[in-house]
Amino acid sequence: SITTQDKSKWNATAPNLYGLMFEDIDHSGDGGIYAELIANRAFSGGAITGNDNPIEPYQSTLDRWVPIGDTQIALDLYHPLSDALPNSMAMTFPANATGRVGVLNTGFWGMDVSPQTYTGSFWINAVNQTYPPNNTTDITVDLRSNLTSDIWVNTTISNYHIGTFRYSQVNFTLENNVTAPNANNTFAITFDASQVAGQTFYLSLTSLFPETFKGRPNGLRKDLAEAFYDLKPGFLRCPGGNNIEGNSIAQRWKWYETIGPLENRPGRIGTWGYWNTDGLGLMEYLDWCEDMEMIPLLAVYDGYSLDHTSYPLEFMDEVLDEILAELEFCLGDTSTKWGAKRAEYGHPEPYNITYVEIGNEDMFSCTYTYRLNYLYPALKKAYPNIRFIQTQYNENAGGGYADCGEGITVPIRDGGGWDAHHYETPSFYLDTFNYWDNFEAENNFTDIEIVLGEYSVFQLDTSTGYVNYSDPPEIHPAYPELISAIGEGIYMLSAERNPSLVTLMSYAPSLQNLNLYVWTPNMIVFQAQHNLTVLTASYWQQHLFANFRGTHTVPVEGELNPLYWVGVVDESSGAFYLKIVNTGNQTVPLTLNFDSGYYSVNGTTLQSEDPNVYNSVDNLHAIEPRMLTGSELPQPGNLPSNATTPVTMVSSSAA
Ligand code: AHR
Repeated sequence: SITTQDKSKWNATAPNLYGLMFEDIDHSGDGGIYAELIANRAFSGGAITGNDNPIEPYQSTLDRWVPIGDTQIALDLYHPLSDALPNSMAMTFPANATGRVGVLNTGFWGMDVSPQTYTGSFWINAVNQTYPPNNTTDITVDLRSNLTSDIWVNTTISNYHIGTFRYSQVNFTLENNVTAPNANNTFAITFDASQVAGQTFYLSLTSLFPETFKGRPNGLRKDLAEAFYDLKPGFLRCPGGNNIEGNSIAQRWKWYETIGPLENRPGRIGTWGYWNTDGLGLMEYLDWCEDMEMIPLLAVYDGYSLDHTSYPLEFMDEVLDEILAELEFCLGDTSTKWGAKRAEYGHPEPYNITYVEIGNEDMFSCTYTYRLNYLYPALKKAYPNIRFIQTQYNENAGGGYADCGEGITVPIRDGGGWDAHHYETPSFYLDTFNYWDNFEAENNFTDIEIVLGEYSVFQLDTSTGYVNYSDPPEIHPAYPELISAIGEGIYMLSAERNPSLVTLMSYAPSLQNLNLYVWTPNMIVFQAQHNLTVLTASYWQQHLFANFRGTHTVPVEGELNPLYWVGVVDESSGAFYLKIVNTGNQTVPLTLNFDSGYYSVNGTTLQSEDPNVYNSVDNLHAIEPRMLTGSELPQPGNLPSNATTPVTMVSSSAA
């Protein structure tokens, strides 16, 4: 029984409810949505090994670089490009070298090659060598097969003068017309040995980008960004996750090292076992938000790192200063020090930031109380219009794992909010339909918001019933299954039912490179070859819920279990959306009684008889939404004769 016409029963939906959680995990950034094709581009850091190898992040490496022909390569630490990028590669061409010489980069487990314009650059010099000062050299760059002798595209920079005192940047484009049959391709820089035999050149910061999402320089891998964009995301939570915290205070995400020219960004050992270039830095995140019309939920480092070290209270002023400078960089006008820097880097207008998250999962620390008490009032005073989200509340709801003796409750501030995380089993989520219904009343909150910044079915149900975050990994599904999507769907209903409380929610983690990962399951699984990207069952669940948003929830009465639902109207179009999750294993006949007429019905379902069905690299399309047809839909004869507006049913079901 559906009441759509009585506006006194309408509740405004949360406009940005469904969003994206992004941190660099599982090579989601470098080697993922950050479109850079060159791996280890400045010889700064590696651990770009395969899944069979232990993950040991390390600095200063020639990993992923291979000499061509009569070329010797060596890591060089004496010819820095910049303070941030001190390493280079010495390419030595012996006096008796012949043929083509140079180096190639094997990328992040290959490179997808398709018709488009690639844009690249590298820095090169011949410091202290005998290279004749007035001499010039032809330099050829190409994309080539790693399996055959095919060269897909190349261009030659003729008569280039390689400086003998300082680096110069060589810029080029590759206009490619072919599609390589697979992603086992490399990028090469070569010379004719007859021109360079006997010389040593130093190479630094090499970069190659395909066309990016919305054409942003230094931008996003198009196909992955488009998969995100298709989710109509309302917000982006970034840059962590654990990755903002760092494995130690020294290794935290330092916003000020992620801005400006790439040669000024040192990168860091990320939390998840590999080098982060920070090419995808603070401004790239905020530009990403603008390009997808989302708001940022910007996480700031709050003085706690994953080795359980916390800034002591007497040093918290340093943490506060770091955050205030970051916010000035994002929001200050150009008369401020950091606002001017932002303008210098290409964005004179302040960014639009309305949510800031103070830390990440601080329930793992015992020090959040003093850190938040120090930070929150000062930040709120400086930015009264920002809603600051805390990451620890109490031990009962959504975790509270630190062993702090009697346990800690960190009250949620009026005007603030709490980011609760849930990595759970399907059966946990089956009980969450009413999870948030009484939260405010029971806890006497009046003006708070709940962010569900990370949630997903992390583990399938087992006889023990509890979630095991460590081994054995086998109980964590490699890919989200339909049963995962159903559980997550119930949790999404719980949020949609409480739109003034739960305002933002994001599945996590969102992206996984199949070649190196430490966490499953993820929403999208990809590799270098674009047409092998897996849009998982959970992705499609997000897609269904987020694409049928509506402006107001309306009352829908009926018998719950196995069906659960929420009904939403769209005020401007008059459409009504009924989102149903069937938690049973059978088809349930439905009769819809409306208080007014609807003239047409269509429906989309994510459905299978097998609750464990999943999309994978071996079967990309095992489970996808499909339109309901014929007798699956309420028939026109069943609709009232005064029908006037459309209704859409969305369901996910194991039936
Ligand atoms: O999503 C993976 C990790 O899970 C996040 O980095 C962290 O916040 C949570 O524990």
